[in-house]
Amino acid sequence: MKVCRRETFNAAHRLFIEDWNEAKNLEVFGKCSYPNYHGHNYTLEVWVDGDIDPNTGFVVDLKTLKHIIREEVIERFDHKNLNLDCPEFDGLNPTAENIAVVIWKLLRNRIDESFKLEVQLTETENNKVFYSGEE
Ligand code: NI
Repeated sequence: MKVCRRETFNAAHRLFIEDWNEAKNLEVFGKCSYPNYHGHNYTLEVWVDGDIDPNTGFVVDLKTLKHIIREEVIERFDHKNLNLDCPEFDGLNPTAENIAVVIWKLLRNRIDESFKLEVQLTETENNKVFYSGEE
């Protein structure tokens, strides 16, 4: 059985590779490489897969999952500049892919190993990524 908690946060970023010139960064990363940063409204879905607890009838308590996501992800990244404010992205381009892996690792530390964990991160209406711990 899989259960899901959805949360949202807003964050700014810039995608670029320092060793490349501006033209090459623009070619690869498009508007996301503009030097003065821009924001996205991210939607995060956290999926937990496990057995139903026969006592509670829950796989996990979604209130507890909500608090974990808020502590580990929302407080850390909401209204932040991922490049400048968040050491998690020192030397790591804050693409949706990399953000999803960082989030997965933060949450993995807080969720019992007996559960499978998957995260889906939606960056724009048309772009989303899904990470299940296997690259
Ligand atoms: Ni962007």
